[in-house]
Amino acid sequence: MRAAEHRRQLDIALLAWRDLWHPQPFREARPVWCEQWPALTAALLALSDTEAAHLNDDVTDALCWLAGYLPDIDALLPLIDIPIAESRLPTVAGERWAWEIPGRKRSQIEAFAGAVQSGGEGVIDWCGGKGHLGRLLGLAWQQPVHTLEIDAALCADGVQLARRIGLDHRFLECDALAVTDWPRQGQHAVALHACGNLHRRLIERGAGAGVTRFDVAPCCYYRGVEKHYQPLSISGQLQLTRDDTRLAVTETVTASPRLTRQRDHDIAWKLAFTAWRAQVSDAPYKTFKPVPAPWLRGSFADFLARMAARECLPAPEQRHLEAIEAAGWQRQREVMRLSIPRHTCRRAIELWLVLDLAEYLEARGYAPSLTTFCDRQLTPRNLLLSARRV
Ligand SMILES: C[S@@+](CC[C@H](N)C(=O)[O-])C[C@H]1O[C@@H](n2cnc3c(N)ncnc32)[C@H](O)[C@@H]1O
Repeated sequence: MRAAEHRRQLDIALLAWRDLWHPQPFREARPVWCEQWPALTAALLALSDTEAAHLNDDVTDALCWLAGYLPDIDALLPLIDIPIAESRLPTVAGERWAWEIPGRKRSQIEAFAGAVQSGGEGVIDWCGGKGHLGRLLGLAWQQPVHTLEIDAALCADGVQLARRIGLDHRFLECDALAVTDWPRQGQHAVALHACGNLHRRLIERGAGAGVTRFDVAPCCYYRGVEKHYQPLSISGQLQLTRDDTRLAVTETVTASPRLTRQRDHDIAWKLAFTAWRAQVSDAPYKTFKPVPAPWLRGSFADFLARMAARECLPAPEQRHLEAIEAAGWQRQREVMRLSIPRHTCRRAIELWLVLDLAEYLEARGYAPSLTTFCDRQLTPRNLLLSARRV
């Protein structure tokens, strides 16, 4: 299916289910859809912790489960089924290219490099940090490489690493959002996890400059989005808020059990605060600034006292603390369950965002394709948009 058609179908499906994925159970104890689908709400709230964790994590199982209550929602399944890229690990002699790369990062780079094909006069590695990906591709393809990176220290390290293996690898220390003369015509542009507006800028500038080939694994779609996401392709009716684009990247499959417990604890305390705030103030829900991590590692009494002081609320009474914390945990259990429908749609939203880039390239004479370049356990941001100029 062409990118434009794929995006059109996702656009229709996401619009149809918007009431389900747009409201945030963290903010609204009972999103409006709970009234519309009481049987679904009851079934969600009755799930065990293990079942809820599984359905929050496994989109395919969650869509099949939801289809028991929401006929047709499983029509999303074929739309989010993306083929796995064929992997041809590049052969490079020795380990020297990989000096100083942490294990997980190295595996991501190798998976990305295995999934892309050479196709250009030189490689530009966009927002490439120390240039690890560019270095591997330059060695494997015997091509000159430019790494564009804003951070001077990362560039300096990258220069040293390239020098050690004698590669023609130059660093462009500049702001990807301001640069006007890169990428250049004929180059092969690669970008591994260049955030939000950084990867969007590469697509726009690269297509204008006549890049021969793109291989982009996007991430942090919300970066650079103010209130609403501004699509590059104008077709479609779906409008995403900044929070919606954030939803696309909220998975935590790489988190350890300890981090998962910590996350649940932090959510429970924050929900305890919002539930208590709703009792002592008439104001409607409003977001609050990030909570400093040490506040969440001490006692609940200290946490709530600090939050109250910061948010200009009266100090909580000692005798109510136990009940306030218990209410937070109760809300956390409900939020975890009522978020399942929302989380089930996040991959579809992510794909809609990537297909926006693909459609833009398609309209400018490129042949885009979408694959996954690694297992989501290695990184959930595993979509690879490849596009060749035809
Ligand atoms: C998530 S890291 C990815 C780095 C590298 N591609 C990798 O996978 O190891 C994003 C990189 O973008 C760089 N960056 C952030 N803003 C930038 C900008 N405006 N211009 C150029 N680089 C930028 C950061 O310094 C960082 O090295």
